[in-house]
Amino acid sequence: MTGLPEAASIRGEALACTDLLALEEFRLRWLGKKGEITGLLKGLGAVDPAERSARGAAINALRDIAQTAWEARKAELEVIAEQAALDAGWIDVTAPSSARAAGRLHPITVLLEEVIDHFTGLGFEVASGPEIEDEFHNFDALNIPKDHPARDVWDTFYTDRREIPRTHTSSVQIRAMQTRKPPIRVISPGRVFRNETIDATHHASFNQVEGLLVDRHVTVGHLKHTLETLVTRIMGRKLETRFRPAFYPFVEPGLDLDVQCVFCNGVGCSICKGSGYIELIPGGLVHPKVLASCGLDPDEWQGFAFGMGFDRMVMMRYGIDDIRRLYDGRLQLVRQF
Ligand code: PHE
Repeated sequence: MTGLPEAASIRGEALACTDLLALEEFRLRWLGKKGEITGLLKGLGAVDPAERSARGAAINALRDIAQTAWEARKAELEVIAEQAALDAGWIDVTAPSSARAAGRLHPITVLLEEVIDHFTGLGFEVASGPEIEDEFHNFDALNIPKDHPARDVWDTFYTDRREIPRTHTSSVQIRAMQTRKPPIRVISPGRVFRNETIDATHHASFNQVEGLLVDRHVTVGHLKHTLETLVTRIMGRKLETRFRPAFYPFVEPGLDLDVQCVFCNGVGCSICKGSGYIELIPGGLVHPKVLASCGLDPDEWQGFAFGMGFDRMVMMRYGIDDIRRLYDGRLQLVRQF
């Protein structure tokens, strides 16, 4: 946006601070009461009303970026200063001890407990199943026949005995339908495995929370409401959502729920690739063939199913921009939305 500083240069400025004094100057310059961002916000009054809200959101996003960069650099510089004192062989035993971060639950655990609480409140139960699956539960029963190209989508690992480290927890939904009588309401959280190249947004092992409801007269409206209330609960506020048609063999119709990007409030940024939306939860109405493969009469029963990549939810909620941080022990929570 015209006349606004670049996010990258703000981050760069924080990183360029080599001691806490310089960092304090950074804080005053950007985040202080008389700082640049306050100045930009004050200047909003003079902006054309048509542009005001987008500009306001962009300035707020910059403030969050400056705040996050400042916190992260501060933590680093404190460690560096402590190390330097140790290296110098001199310790001021009278100095107050630096605060030690206490251990706490992993963000995946924290959010999962909240999601479980949300769904059990709606009458869902938590179902689990084996992490090593057979082809029937992972594929066949889900209307993904052998030799069908759709199977390739899942980048499946196989063991020597052709067992499958499950590629999704949809396998648990099959087990739920085989062992329960409708009406059925289950969620299936768990670890899944895919032969993906690991980078900032992909991992070969990650978590999903899938959900399944089977009853009479189930519609897309039920699915939409369920997912929207879930997003509101997780993000703590109502966000814009939209459904787009999508193909998954086990649902018809298949849909993807997009949610307004929380990093830029829908203005458009590098994380949402300028679209203002993040693709968050795939779902749809359970395919009649899937119901039939579990012994349920599709003329009598319908259902909806959804399956969220849970790590992405956690990343959105806590402002973590690299999925590897969730698993490598270098986790630093930067922001809670
Ligand atoms: N099982 C799908 C996946 O892992 C997600 C999904 C679940 C899509 C339910 C639609 C309905 O990709």
